[in-house]
Amino acid sequence: MQISLDQQVALVTGASSGIGAATAIALAAAGASVVLNYNSQAAPAEQLAARINAEGGRAIAIGADVADEAQVEALFAQAIEAFGFLDILVANSGLQKDGPAASLSLDDWNRVIGVNLTGQFLCARAALNIFQRQGVRAGVSKAAGKIIHMSSVHQLIPWAGHVNYAASKGGVDMLMRTLAQEVSQQRIRINGIAPGAIRTAINRTATEGAAEQELLKLIPYGRVGDPEDVANAALWLASDASDYVVGSTLFIDGGMSLYPEFRGNG
Ligand code: BGC
Repeated sequence: MQISLDQQVALVTGASSGIGAATAIALAAAGASVVLNYNSQAAPAEQLAARINAEGGRAIAIGADVADEAQVEALFAQAIEAFGFLDILVANSGLQKDGPAASLSLDDWNRVIGVNLTGQFLCARAALNIFQRQGVRAGVSKAAGKIIHMSSVHQLIPWAGHVNYAASKGGVDMLMRTLAQEVSQQRIRINGIAPGAIRTAINRTATEGAAEQELLKLIPYGRVGDPEDVANAALWLASDASDYVVGSTLFIDGGMSLYPEFRGNG
């Protein structure tokens, strides 16, 4: 299977590190021009754009808080200004602000819902407007546009101490499937990815030392994931190789969502 994203333009939110950065690298390596969105981490995003350009790809870094409507609109306008088209959105920005529900502040609730759920809606809305205007670009892709919503195994698995995060990802699942139902007949493909434990900054404490051993009990496949495991799935979902995949979530989790604690129990 040869995957090419030649002539396509992709926008990846939260691309300064982790899954977003790995996905941007994979899309660029497949030939896409890539807009790397960041919020606070300008330097690593700029460095990644410079690296992609130095390696013969095309990339720019653009700052925007995805929870802010005006900033999202400006982000997509700048993307079109830079590259002329948009074919792929990877709505990836996400954060955790953990704590027991009984003492979780409204600010920490709102910020997580704002970035992880509202941010994905605002970006999807902006992308849909562009895809609908563009239509299918003959010879470029079979679809008029592709959106990949980055979710989590916690769209399925409840997660004590992370009620804001789990609720946001449950919302992402229904956001993704409802949008897919709404726009598939326009040949816009919307899918999701639900990563499990991936070695990134968001869960550094859970994936190192003794904590890693505990975590591995939840992962039948026996290893923590790498950002590239998720990036490869995003690349496939963004390409025509997955042209008949609509409204699906790929769990990239080493089997975490198989509830391994039930082996020999229950
Ligand atoms: C979270 C990680 C966590 C993983 C598995 C992800 O969505 O961001 O912190 O390790 O789910 O629980």
